[in-house]
Parts: sequence; C-alpha cells; structure tokens
Amino acid sequence: MRWLAITVLVTAVAGQEPCLSVDENPYLLFGSKTAYLFANHALNTNRVHEIPGCQPTAFWLASRHGSNNPEASEIPKLQHLTDLKNNILDNYRNRNFRNTNRKICSTDVELLERWQWNPYINTTFAEGLTSEGYMTTQQLARAWKQRYPGLLTDNPHDYLVKYVDEPLYSASFRAFTDGMFRGPTEGLDIPKENDEKTIRPYKFCPAWKNNVGENNDTLSQMHIFQSKQEYKEMITNISLRLGFNYGINPEIVYSMYQMCRYNKAWDNAAISQWCAAFTREDLKRIEYAEDLETYYKYGYGTPQNQNIGCSLLRDMMGFFTKHIENDPQPQQPRAQINLIDSPMLLMLLTAMNTHQDTAPLTGDNYHTSPIQARKWTTSKMSPFNANAAAILYKCTINGNFQVKERYQVLFLENEYPMYVEGCRVGLCDWSYVVNKFGALANTCDLKFCNSAVKINGFSALFAVLVYFGLKLV
Ligand SMILES: *[C@@H]1O[C@H](CO)[C@@H](O)[C@H](O)[C@H]1NC(C)=O
Ligand SMILES: *[C@@H]1O[C@H](CO)[C@@H](O)[C@H](O)[C@H]1NC(C)=O
Ligand SMILES: *[C@@H]1O[C@H](CO)[C@@H](O)[C@H](O)[C@H]1NC(C)=O
Repeated sequence: MRWLAITVLVTAVAGQEPCLSVDENPYLLFGSKTAYLFANHALNTNRVHEIPGCQPTAFWLASRHGSNNPEASEIPKLQHLTDLKNNILDNYRNRNFRNTNRKICSTDVELLERWQWNPYINTTFAEGLTSEGYMTTQQLARAWKQRYPGLLTDNPHDYLVKYVDEPLYSASFRAFTDGMFRGPTEGLDIPKENDEKTIRPYKFCPAWKNNVGENNDTLSQMHIFQSKQEYKEMITNISLRLGFNYGINPEIVYSMYQMCRYNKAWDNAAISQWCAAFTREDLKRIEYAEDLETYYKYGYGTPQNQNIGCSLLRDMMGFFTKHIENDPQPQQPRAQINLIDSPMLLMLLTAMNTHQDTAPLTGDNYHTSPIQARKWTTSKMSPFNANAAAILYKCTINGNFQVKERYQVLFLENEYPMYVEGCRVGLCDWSYVVNKFGALANTCDLKFCNSAVKINGFSALFAVLVYFGLKLV
C-alpha cells in the first residue's frame, strides 16, 4: 500500500497538473449562492452616513437571508457525492486518465479525500440558516445601526419587521434584531408582521406561477445554452479531469457545483474541495446558465415580473409617504425591515429598473461583449444577505448646493449607492421618486394574479375566441 501512495505522488509531481484548489485568485461568484463577502467587498462599517444639510428620518430595507442549508430534496443528492468522491479516488489510484495534462492534481485529490458530508445536515435542518448566515446577518444589522445612529435607535417601537413565520426567517429575525439591539432580544417586544402578500406575493399569484414560475418555457434560453456544444464539452472536460472516460451526468456535475458553492458560503475562509472540479471558465459558464434562469423567471426577460416586484416598491412608497405627509409629527415605525428571499429581491430590482441591459440575455449570445459585461448578474445582485435599502432624508434647502428639494431618498444596494437613472449617486429628489415609481406602486394590486386573461396575450386571444365561438354557436 505504501509504495502505491509513493508512486501516486511521484506521478503527480511529474505530471505537473494545475491545482485548481490553490489558485491564489479563485473565482468566487456563484450566482444565488455567493457569499456576501465575495459579492460585496466589505465597507468601512464605522463611518456614519452623512449628507450635508440633511437628516435621515426613515429607513426602509429589503434584506435577503444569509447562507442556508440545502432544501430537503437536495440533501440526498449531495450526500451521494460521497460515492462520487470514492470513484474519483479510485480513478486517481488506478491512473485512469486518458490525457494526463488534464487530470486533477494530487493536492486537489488529497483535499477531496478529506471532504465528507456533514451528518448534522438532515431534513430536520433543511433550508435552515447556517451559523455563518446568522453572523453575517447580525454584522449587517450592526453596520446599519452604526451608520444611522440617530435613526436606528434602541427603542423597539421605532421598528417594524416583516417576515414569514418559517424557521429560516425566524432565525434571520433573531440574527438581525440581535445585531440591532446588541444582544438577545427575547424580552424586547419588537413589532413584527407576517405580511406575506407584500414580501412574498408570488406565492399567491396563480397567473404568475402558471405563466412564469412553473412554466418550462421560462427556462428555454437556459436549456438552449446548456445544449450547446461548448457546454457539453465543458461536462466532458470536467469528467476527464476527474478520471472518468465517459461524460458524467450533468445533474451530478450540478451537485458538485452546489457542494462547491455551499461549502464556500458556509465557511468563507476554507478551501471548498469540490470547486477543484471546475476551471474559472467552467464556473463563469455555469454562472451564466443561472443568470439565464433568473433573468426570465424573476427579471426583465418576462414583463409580469415587475408586477410582482412592485409589492415591495408599494410598501416603500407608502412608508415614506406616511412620513412626509405627517411631517413634522414623528412617525413610528421609523425603520421598516422586510426579510425576503432571492426571487423577491430580483423582482424588486426589476421593478426599479436597475441592472437593465440593452440586449436581452439569451442562450446564444454568451460570447458577445455586452453579455460578458452584463448588468444582470445574480452573483452581485442576489448573493446571500443581499439587500436594497432606501433612506428618506429631510433637508434644509441651501444647506447643500446639490439638494434642491426638501425630501430626498438615498438608495443603496448591498450598502453601496445604487445606480438609479436621473439621481446623483443613489440620491434622488422625492418628486422624482414619485414620478419614477409612483404609477407602478399605485397600480400594484396583484389583481392579474387570478385572471389568466390579462396576463398572457395568447390566453386572452383564446378566451376571446371561446367567447365568440360560444356566441356564434
Ligand atoms: C437530524 O439530526 C438531529 C440530531 O443531529 C436529530 O435529532 C434529528 O432527529 C434528525 N432528523 C432526521 C429527520 O433524521
Ligand atoms: C418541464 O421539463 C422537465 C424536464 O425537461 C420535465 O420533466 C417536465 O415534465 C416538464 N414540465 C412540463 C409541465 O412540461
Ligand atoms: C476543454 O479542454 C480543452 C483542453 O484543455 C480546451 O482546449 C477546451 O477549451 C476545453 N473546453 C471547454 C468548453 O472548456
């Protein structure tokens, strides 16, 4: 046995394969399962956010949960990677490589050998917030508080937190309030509301589910991309790298990718062993496939998505309007926190018209330069803990030569100024905000959800034909 190990090492050195796990600058943008740290280079959290001549008076936030455990249906697939790992180790020992220039390196194999499925992740804890997710959420809340000390007070009644009554969100609520109030909040009576129609309206929208969410056509561009020669060749290359002389089932490749990105999100500092199966180019391609999915399912690829995302916009506009109309009477809550998921964050950004590309994302245009520099990037828009904030400021005119209106709104995306057309580094006049978002917010009633006719041209035509058909008979 010992000489076998030595031979393996010697061949490894002689072969000089590139080690993907020791890349000094690894690719860490993993779509909707990117760690916040990698999507968003940390800000200086101690700085107070000041706009000369203006006072922050109301704070609105939509915040995605932190890193979580896999869904129940994913767990067995990820557990099965143990068998795949053993096959890869066998392949390596048996020198099962057609082309030694393309094989996984010994360091990567040794790391993979040490990987094991964490037995604590079972169906009981499926989808649950991880300890990393808890800490990041807590830190984020602390950072907000440090930046807005006068606004984000220690009085629980200045807050309203909206979330759904599920373990992932209850844990996020605890993490967030724990960070806001610097410690466990059991005794504090923090106002909360289970307003699902605002924070998760797509669950109540049969028209959206049928036409978009559960409609296979939504994924057609992603399927086009995945059926390309290039994508298949990528699967072959991954298979060869791991010592398989046949193409691994794409679903298993996907499980490796999931494990790669989960492990990196659960422990940002550690090497994620399964990532060694992928080159940088592979990771970018798989990332694009997910962008194609989210673009059509939650983004600009399907017009209805704006009519779902508007519920959060309506919530924000209503909140600020109440503060402005009652001014100078201070209003409670002063801070409204919505704990949401990735689909809703993407649909909100779509309703706000940010990250809009001039050319649509398609399965055929991956190599074009607009797509290589695309604005729609799930990794940056919706990593774990992604957030969109809007802060209402009351200003003294002439206090700041740039500010020409009494009320201003600052939009932040993952803590940085959001690009909003017509605004100054995320800072917009209230009248402009009303002009830009008012109409969509005011007509956001989700009425289309229960009538297929309004939403889909084909169904509408069909309904009309049936109607006339019946009359004619
Ligand atoms: C999951 O693991 C915990 C302990 O780690 C155990 O109490 C629980 O019963 C397990 N759940 C399932 C469904 O096996
Ligand atoms: C959607 O596609 C999947 C896989 O291609 C298939 O299994 C499923 O039956 C399809 N669903 C519908 C409603 O066509
Ligand atoms: C597959 O590997 C070959 C050889 O390393 C490389 O030339 C080719 O670009 C790879 N193809 C893809 C799609 O990654």
